[in-house]
Amino acid sequence: MRNEIRYTGWDELENSLFIKSLKMVYEFIKKTWTKFFIITFSIITLTSCQSEEKIKLEQYYIGGKEVYELNCANCHQKDGKGLQSLYPPVAGSDYLRNKDKVIYLIKNGLVGEILVNGKKFNQPMPANNQLTNLDIAEVVTYIYNEWNGETKITEVKEVEKVLKRK
Ligand code: HEC
Repeated sequence: MRNEIRYTGWDELENSLFIKSLKMVYEFIKKTWTKFFIITFSIITLTSCQSEEKIKLEQYYIGGKEVYELNCANCHQKDGKGLQSLYPPVAGSDYLRNKDKVIYLIKNGLVGEILVNGKKFNQPMPANNQLTNLDIAEVVTYIYNEWNGETKITEVKEVEKVLKRK
């Protein structure tokens, strides 16, 4: 009688090998599915973010090239190398280390002697009031990516911040 009570309850069923293995399988699936979802989800979000960034960079680059060729290439030349001692190069220019200054001078022009890669220039550059903040962000993105080793966007926000400040 005592033995019967002891061995016919849920305990026995729960402890049986079959139930144990079922539980293990269930736990395994539960764990791997969570991992599976987390990994897949991260991959999808990461790659879509990356490609969105890449597409935006390409758009800025292409737009910037157009802005450059229409508004800057006359003086700085299409290849960015400038023109003798009249127009300084923008390709590989050490003047571009200070991007805020560059944003400001593109919009407002520049007067007075400057040094570019150790060479003196002193001709006025006219202002570009016709350019929107987006045009400037694009042309800066183009110059820095094409000739000055950057691989990122100069955001409109950055341009707004600089032009508001001064
Ligand atoms: C009419 C000719 C002319 C045009 C057009 C012009 N620039 Fe300039 N730019 C100059 C001159 C001249 C200087 C040097 C100014 C000085 O001596 O103070 C200069 C200086 C610069 C500099 C800083 C020095 C350097 O070469 O790194 C940058 C950057 C620059 N220009 C970018 C541009 C961009 C971008 C555009 C088009 C949106 C543009 N410029 C349009 C003549 C021009």
